[in-house]
Amino acid sequence: MAIREIRKEGDPILRKECRPVKEMTERISTLIEDMFETMYEAEGVGLAGPQVGILRKIFVIDVGIEEPEPYVFINPEILELEGEQTGQEGCLSVPGYSGEVTRAEHVRVRAFDANMEEFELEADGLFARAIQHENDHLYGTLYIDKVNGELIDLSTLESGEDEEE
Ligand code: NI
Repeated sequence: MAIREIRKEGDPILRKECRPVKEMTERISTLIEDMFETMYEAEGVGLAGPQVGILRKIFVIDVGIEEPEPYVFINPEILELEGEQTGQEGCLSVPGYSGEVTRAEHVRVRAFDANMEEFELEADGLFARAIQHENDHLYGTLYIDKVNGELIDLSTLESGEDEEE
């Protein structure tokens, strides 16, 4: 396993559409392990292929509240979106910022797991938000494209501890 470099906003790879995974290979299997390790090291709750420079339809999620988890989604297909939720979002590819995004409250998704076995699941709340955010990455969309109002520069929120620059 290895930590991979997380691509940052401005890198054109984040704006490309991913290709599906045809079969599980050693290479893809290692990629998935690395994606989990990279996500945990960066303290994120989700990470998609393009964020580590791989244009494949894969993302991993661990929002810490679902069972069983963590999850890997391969070739995901969103089958249903219902309701609405509005909340703060961030992205490991846009460090130091957050923004308010409105998404569906409920999602039904079909995908393949690390054994290329198909599964279907329904999610709500934070888990549903993460699925929609990560799925967007597979189509070159970032949450900053969907933000309500302005992005928040997180460094300005710590004004009490600010040092002069
Ligand atoms: Ni992201």
